[in-house]
Amino acid sequence: MLSTRFTELVGCSVPVQQAGMGGIAMPELATAVARAGGLGMVAGVEIPADLLAGMLDELDADTRSKIGVNFLMPFLDEEAVKAAASRVRVVEFFYGDPEKLLVDLVHQGGALAFWQVGSLAEAKAAADAGCDAIIAQGTEAGGHVRGQVGLHTLLAEVLDAVEVPVIAAGGIGTPRAMAAALAAGADAVRAGTVFVAAEETDAHPEYVDALAKARAQDTVLTEAFEAGWPNAPHRVLRSSIEAAERHQGDTVAETRFGEAVIPVARFAPDPPSRATTGNIQAMALYAGESVDAVRGLRPAAAIVRELADGAEALLRRW
Ligand SMILES: Cc1cc2nc3c(=O)[nH]c(=O)nc-3n(C[C@H](O)[C@H](O)[C@H](O)COP(=O)(O)O)c2cc1C
Repeated sequence: MLSTRFTELVGCSVPVQQAGMGGIAMPELATAVARAGGLGMVAGVEIPADLLAGMLDELDADTRSKIGVNFLMPFLDEEAVKAAASRVRVVEFFYGDPEKLLVDLVHQGGALAFWQVGSLAEAKAAADAGCDAIIAQGTEAGGHVRGQVGLHTLLAEVLDAVEVPVIAAGGIGTPRAMAAALAAGADAVRAGTVFVAAEETDAHPEYVDALAKARAQDTVLTEAFEAGWPNAPHRVLRSSIEAAERHQGDTVAETRFGEAVIPVARFAPDPPSRATTGNIQAMALYAGESVDAVRGLRPAAAIVRELADGAEALLRRW
């Protein structure tokens, strides 16, 4: 088995982390990934603390000890961080400067603290803040992209600079890409796009179909979907920008939350979920260069197994 500093730290059996993905990665996905031996993540963004606590309390203690919760710094709610830290194994942050006070808050709650970074300076700041692991995200990544260099350039710099385990993210969807990251020294890989197409996600079926038809060259790094979150580059399918440009009207769709129906503004950063109706193709269809590996819906466990078993076989052969 692929035993690394990451598997030892977190207590999982394979060095695969499923990315926290706003609106897409909920407890059902995180649980499926954890049961398959990886680290499953719940997207905590914009979920009120009491709702998040209730959601996590519904999971059994064993599952909670193998999953994490992800927070986006521009939308941070400290009460939600506290609620997560006392209930799950890992609490992590993205898209803001590393803060020691937040890392301490996570440790006080009993969880490990991770930070996803896009530059060497940010990685050093995360290590100085006391993070237990650092995710190095290259510009190949789907969703919001923090830095300006590709994964292997950043990974090499970060590995040379910090002592804690380093997780590689951005463009990883195949066993070969995973093996390459581990061979380069990463302690684990983090994948987002390939898990959008897991059976256990809340992603809208039209979004999954669009990913299955796309290739890496159909993705683009842009600031187009900026309504409510400006100056934050993200990688999407180019077709979604073109569809949003063609769309007439200020709203493109609506998403149902219980009784409430929330309009989705044109160029809003929300990806389409199963609860969304409207012009799905004109919403933010986040996709990394890893999109080549998406062929259609599959159980999350099959994705974890293919990555881990395939990478292990390749590393043996190399
Ligand atoms: C649909 C989608 C939503 C995302 N949302 C988040 C998020 O809420 N928080 C976060 O830390 N990263 C988010 N990301 C970025 C991932 O953490 C990760 O860096 C990225 O998925 C890695 O590249 P890949 O998609 O090629 O695997 C998202 C990515 C995608 C594809």
